[in-house]
Amino acid sequence: MNTNDFSIRHIGNNTQQVEEMLSVIGKDSIDTLIEATVPQNIRLKDALDLPEALSEFETTNHLAEIASLNKKVKNYLGYGYYGTILPAPIQRNVLENAGWYTAYTPYQAEIAQGRLEALLNFQTVISDLTGLPIANASLLDEGTACGEAMHMLLESRSREQKKNNVIKFFVADNLFPQSIAVLETKAEGLGIELVIGDFETVELTEDFFGAIVQYIGKGGQINNYRSFVEKANTVGAKVAVATDLLALTLLTPPGEWGADIAIGTSQRFGVPMGYGGPHAAFLSCTEEYKRVIPGRIIGVSQDRLGNRALRMALQTREQHIKREKATSNICTAQVLLAVMASFYAVYHGKDGLQYIANEIHTKAGILQAGVQHLGFKTTNTVFFDTVQIEVENTEEVVKIFAEEEINVNGFENGKISITIDEMVSEEDIFEILSVFATIKNTEEGFEFEVEDNYLPQDLVRTSDFLTHENFNLYHTETELMRYIKRLERKDLALNQSMIALGSCTMKLNAATELLHLSWERMGNVHPFTPKEQVEGYQTLIKNLEDYLAVITGFDATSLQPNSGAQGEYAGLMVIRSYFQSKGEGHRNVVLIPQSAHGTNPASAAMAGMQVVVVKNLESGETDLVDLKDKCEKYKDNLAALMITYPSTYGAFDSNIEEVTTMIHEYGGQVYMDGANMNAQVGLTSPGNIGADVCHLNLHKTFAIPHGGGGPGVGPICVKAHLAPFLGTSPLIDMGGKEAKNTFAAAPYGSAFILPISYSYILMLGAEGLLKATQGAILNANYMKARLEEHFDILYTNANNVVAHEFILDCRPFKKLGIEVTDIAKRLIDYGFHAPTVSFPVAGTLMVEPTESENKPELDRFCDALISIRQEIDEVANGDYPAENNVLHNAPHPQHLLTADEWEYPYTRSKAAFPLEWVRERKFFASVSRIDDAYGDRNLICTCAPIEAYMD
Ligand SMILES: Cc1ncc(COP(=O)(O)O)c(C=O)c1O
Repeated sequence: MNTNDFSIRHIGNNTQQVEEMLSVIGKDSIDTLIEATVPQNIRLKDALDLPEALSEFETTNHLAEIASLNKKVKNYLGYGYYGTILPAPIQRNVLENAGWYTAYTPYQAEIAQGRLEALLNFQTVISDLTGLPIANASLLDEGTACGEAMHMLLESRSREQKKNNVIKFFVADNLFPQSIAVLETKAEGLGIELVIGDFETVELTEDFFGAIVQYIGKGGQINNYRSFVEKANTVGAKVAVATDLLALTLLTPPGEWGADIAIGTSQRFGVPMGYGGPHAAFLSCTEEYKRVIPGRIIGVSQDRLGNRALRMALQTREQHIKREKATSNICTAQVLLAVMASFYAVYHGKDGLQYIANEIHTKAGILQAGVQHLGFKTTNTVFFDTVQIEVENTEEVVKIFAEEEINVNGFENGKISITIDEMVSEEDIFEILSVFATIKNTEEGFEFEVEDNYLPQDLVRTSDFLTHENFNLYHTETELMRYIKRLERKDLALNQSMIALGSCTMKLNAATELLHLSWERMGNVHPFTPKEQVEGYQTLIKNLEDYLAVITGFDATSLQPNSGAQGEYAGLMVIRSYFQSKGEGHRNVVLIPQSAHGTNPASAAMAGMQVVVVKNLESGETDLVDLKDKCEKYKDNLAALMITYPSTYGAFDSNIEEVTTMIHEYGGQVYMDGANMNAQVGLTSPGNIGADVCHLNLHKTFAIPHGGGGPGVGPICVKAHLAPFLGTSPLIDMGGKEAKNTFAAAPYGSAFILPISYSYILMLGAEGLLKATQGAILNANYMKARLEEHFDILYTNANNVVAHEFILDCRPFKKLGIEVTDIAKRLIDYGFHAPTVSFPVAGTLMVEPTESENKPELDRFCDALISIRQEIDEVANGDYPAENNVLHNAPHPQHLLTADEWEYPYTRSKAAFPLEWVRERKFFASVSRIDDAYGDRNLICTCAPIEAYMD
């Protein structure tokens, strides 16, 4: 046996275990199981055309070679991406630590208090620095955050403004070009009229509902927007501002000069540029907007015993509840990166951050004085980190610098700008000045006066920030390391036990796939680096695009969208552009089955589409009669059907070809949501079932870790007729030939984590990928076979098998006073994260084991559920009262179990160690059941202790 074969590391079960499991399922081979699962008419005839699998060692060497093709250049490009120093204890204890990167979105808050605290710290940093009271727990990037702010302001228009159809939004021309491009795309979908211009001269009228400006503008000048805000407010327009966190340690925060919303990126708080992402963007606002703020907000609440506890707040705003009426489609965000940025702030504290900011500013000051001394004209009167210099020939100057392996920003004609960051030394500044001296052909020395400070005196920060103890206690490495560990121990991640979250595909994130995250030639790369300097990234991107096209059976791929939901939005906008190009721009109806994920309708609404719901049959399949009716009714305007395959009910609909054919007959396009692609790879493909476009969640099927709720990558793959419309960038030549839309700030989205999926594909190869899919289907069917005697399984196919996930019906227990949440929380006492609760059917659990788990772990999980089923029977039999039993009181945290008092009708050991093996593997929740309603009634989203807010 080749023990270097990665598939035996990635896939949980060996041959003997597979045999044993098949016999429990009642199938004689994997092939018979798959035949019973996937309709024959959509099976692939040939193996995927992918390279031979590499070993882990070979893959690391290959990636190292790729990395070496990225030139090592000094970067001064700015535009929202900066060199930054990731403190080694954060790199080692967070970024490289499975305890942090393999956790899921904190839906089960009782076992997520660690990352919830880190995110609350993040929100506190954002709120303090921007001077606005409400902050969310991260957005995808600065460009999309601008879009979210614009959408919030649109939704928050006064009744009068809505009545008068006030749809103009002003965008200051000093915004980064990539942000403007994302805003233009978003405005098209939402029907907003953008007016781009100079904030000093624009004539705002009552036709404007809002505006966005940049503080600090793209050229580096720091503007005072006080009178602009007053002018805007007079005509009823609200103001959002894109801003820089590090600069705000020295400058008056936007909340103090009247901004309603602040957005930006936290990248320069220790997160590598990584050729564009992932990084956590932020959004903060006044109280007025708290019910329309997009994305996750972490809030303070209390548990059932009255202890302070954190959880996600105000979830009824979000797409999974509000669907097409949600203000945002955001689901996966940038949690791991927000966590890293928050620890950067914890480690440095206020003084450390101000020190870093002052150092940067001082060096920028030396540069300004130096270039002036050499006879160049600079354009910024007040600045923080960016010096803008007038030159005769921008292109030529950029080239001269590039020859010295220095990248300066030449995106503005007649000017270049140079942005200083934390990594820049004084020697670097003098190196730059020497190049300027050569350009001027001068012998002039470097003796010149530097002013103390080039900040605007009317905008110097006077207010305090980061006063909470979390930003003041952990400034030594020992203390930081222990704080990180303390938080990590409160969280259940994949390094503890399986996380069988349906629709989330929590598979192994192999260490080899992640090694490059610590390599400088991959991390310290600016997204707007000229292509010829990043041959490594360009090669990897091209290869990955090709591999994904092969796997999906399509012709082209765009890696730009940085989450699944962004992929949906991008895919629909591509469909929109395609119809416009054919003179059928009126097609705007999207059919969506009722079982769809909330992001589907939310993305459709953002793309300016009308959502029409299609029924599912009791079997879970799409109701062809209803589909036909809807197609007929909307035949003139049908744009697309969005369908998840296999469906969110966990089965391969046998009528899928009829569905896709019908949509095409009515002139529509088929969008396939690829969240469940883990059941398809190598067996069938979106192309094969008749779809035109799909998104993939690389953070599900293709092994990118979930990071506690992000990062994600949601590439879209398309058939040739849609390829010309794939997303582009205003700063890098890329994307479809007729592309006009930009879906993310960085050209290739979260490029830094693409090598994870790339290595995953390379190490498994066609055969390993197929085995992984088979393994996922085998594991799900094995668990189903073990559990079906104890729980009703919803939605099996005609052969009584499921795909890669299945739904356990918990609604029958309601009559005993037992809710699905009780079962979810009781699983914590057994050391497990609950499966997905109440999606796609309320009152159910959706279980997705993935191929990476082995039989012993699956058995423990099944044993836990079967034991819980017996505990339910004990309540049914009257052994324990409905409102005082192990389920109702779960989870049982350690402090409760070890308290001197014990007033429950069951024993401590029954509560804590319900099965023998739990003793060995015990995971204690750090709080008991959390009261969500309490927290929503009293929203607190920064670090103040709860007592401070109690009556
Ligand atoms: C079926 C389905 N579609 C879409 C999404 C959205 O993906 P993302 O969270 O990456 O935005 C999810 C996420 O869980 C999903 O399960």
